[in-house]
Amino acid sequence: MNIGRVYLKTNVILAPMAGVTDRVFRTICREMGAGLVVSEMVSSKGLYYEDRNTIDLTNIAQDERPISLQIFGSDPDIMAEVVERYINPREDIDILDINMGCPTPKIVKNGDGAALLKDLRLVRQILKKVVRVSNKPVTVKIRMGWDKNHLTGIEVAKIAEEEGVSAITVHGRTRDMFYSGQADWDFIKEVKKSVAIPVIGNGDVFEPMDAINMMEYTGCDGVAIGRGALGNPWIFKRIALIQEGKGDLEPTYDEIINMAIRHLNMLCMDKGERVAVKEMRKHIAWYIRGLKNSNKVKNEINHINSRDEVERILLDYLLELNTF
Ligand SMILES: Cc1cc2nc3c(=O)[nH]c(=O)nc-3n(C[C@H](O)[C@H](O)[C@H](O)COP(=O)(O)O)c2cc1C
Repeated sequence: MNIGRVYLKTNVILAPMAGVTDRVFRTICREMGAGLVVSEMVSSKGLYYEDRNTIDLTNIAQDERPISLQIFGSDPDIMAEVVERYINPREDIDILDINMGCPTPKIVKNGDGAALLKDLRLVRQILKKVVRVSNKPVTVKIRMGWDKNHLTGIEVAKIAEEEGVSAITVHGRTRDMFYSGQADWDFIKEVKKSVAIPVIGNGDVFEPMDAINMMEYTGCDGVAIGRGALGNPWIFKRIALIQEGKGDLEPTYDEIINMAIRHLNMLCMDKGERVAVKEMRKHIAWYIRGLKNSNKVKNEINHINSRDEVERILLDYLLELNTF
């Protein structure tokens, strides 16, 4: 699959997730076969004002490419200037994605994220200016609309296509659904029918077969996986195996625990032990979700600040899992 001139080896993509899809998790998902990874959303205003924490979010490792950097904002001039000044010179960024789907109150109250779905004129202005200046393919990530009375997603997709956007990701929920209810794959199908640019379906792919079914049902060109990849980077490899007709293979306990430890070590290298051990609490909870006695391990890890201790607890747990 191609997005603009960027070639993706597979059409299964790691969706952007703030607080999750950092450089380490993206690298792991690429290793596991994601065709493209997307950064956490990055504030265009933060880049404009050269805020250090915002800039840090744009750090990229060589082995995670191709990568899409996602920005959010609603001021067309600021966004275009950030693209020219900051993103165009960055040869390590392959694709630029614009967030038009984030439902968080903090974001929409500034008119950013999903709030843009209510202002089609502004959507056009942003895309016109950004596509005109960008030296990379521009993509957009949207929801179906603000709520069920304002389903503007298809109009936004058409505007995106008219303004030269290279692909569009559609999360089959409205803003007011946040993450509740079921993603509407029929809507994704409608978007696919409405535009000729690649459409990437998104929403509720939790099992490898869900990805295959979404592509078949909606006709979408690719799928983006968010929550289904949490603690579960194997999902990308498993989908590829099914696509190649080689069947499905679940990860073993050893693979799960060893991946969690490797993730911990990579994060320690990247962010330092104190931050990494804290951030790994949620990742480890995801890795061991649904396994026997996992609550006990989660509780233990929540009170620990040392990498060595976390590793010991995980290795003890692996022994326990293998003797059940
Ligand atoms: C913790 C979390 C953080 C997210 N952060 C972002 C983000 O930064 N940008 C974005 O476009 N979507 C973000 N999303 C939405 C996901 O990319 C995706 O659209 C949504 O989770 C639906 O897909 P899924 O059912 O595969 O999880 C986030 C979702 C979660 C769960």
